[in-house]
Amino acid sequence: MDKKVTVVGAGNVGATAAQRLAEKELCDVVLIDILDGVPQGKALDLTEAAPIEKHDAHLTGANTYEASKDSDIVIITAGIARKPGMSRDDLISTNAGIINDVTKQIVAYSPEAILIIVSNPLDAMCHVAFDASGFPKNRVVGMAGVLDSARFRAFISMELNVSVESIHAFVLGGHGDTMVPLPRFSTVAGIPITELIPQDRIDALVDRTANGGAEIVSLLKTGSAYYAPASAAVEMAESILKDKKKILPCAAYLQGEYGIQDLFIGVPVKLGSKGIEDIIEISLTDTEKAALMNSAAAVQDLKDDLKKLG
Ligand code: APR
Repeated sequence: MDKKVTVVGAGNVGATAAQRLAEKELCDVVLIDILDGVPQGKALDLTEAAPIEKHDAHLTGANTYEASKDSDIVIITAGIARKPGMSRDDLISTNAGIINDVTKQIVAYSPEAILIIVSNPLDAMCHVAFDASGFPKNRVVGMAGVLDSARFRAFISMELNVSVESIHAFVLGGHGDTMVPLPRFSTVAGIPITELIPQDRIDALVDRTANGGAEIVSLLKTGSAYYAPASAAVEMAESILKDKKKILPCAAYLQGEYGIQDLFIGVPVKLGSKGIEDIIEISLTDTEKAALMNSAAAVQDLKDDLKKLG
């Protein structure tokens, strides 16, 4: 392949992302993890599936960063995942240290890469990677909105018994309980769901979306969601690798857009070969604006917590 993506963290999200990247023949893949043998074993296992899955992507596993040299994209999934009873925010002190360390090592070998952050708490980890990398803001992007809107789309599909392919959904804000699903921009074949689903059911779907991650955690009991998070990260990577310029909801560093200053938060962005090529500003109702500001305040609290952690 002429493109190269490194996935840091060969756990559930990272290994699933590696599988999807390879099976879509988007790039060669390097898997990196601190666990001795795990990234090597998973890369070899995926390589042995290649003849059956019919792809020619090369997969390599490593515990150090030399193999990641000159990656086009680095997807960071390293860290701990939450268990039942934990919020994403409970992961902050452990994962901040990990993301800081990982980012510095990545940058040393791939100074031109685009970073896709997946580790939680997502918006705060974007800040850690942004600061540790010194990269321009267009090359650090967080995966949250694509996942949250995919969940919303899945629930709308179940509600109306229509194909997921006919459904678009919009979610703004931080990747947490304060996220802001926007029903009037969520459509079935272009028709807003507000015309198709009664308000009380929309409220229920919005609530289920905001708690979508927790629902999976409570079912799995030993970890958090990974199939949908991996799909979301790979959709973002594909848009960048193929310069598709998809408009996707992602965590981006805002400097005044939506009236928000110096904060990573989920907004619609154009993703192409330069990373975030544009931030799309839509006009919000007063209620939507208030919900976004509430979400921004929650992300700001996490950013302040990071400062206290040093
Ligand atoms: N460098 C590289 N890899 C690391 C490091 C490090 N410093 N620290 C931990 N890891 C690895 C672990 O060894 C593990 O293999 O990160 C991997 C995490 O995998 P899982 O525990 O399976 O977690 P996963 O479900 O993949 O979630 C990873 O993504 O969605 C988020 O909240 C989730 O923050 C979590 C992250």
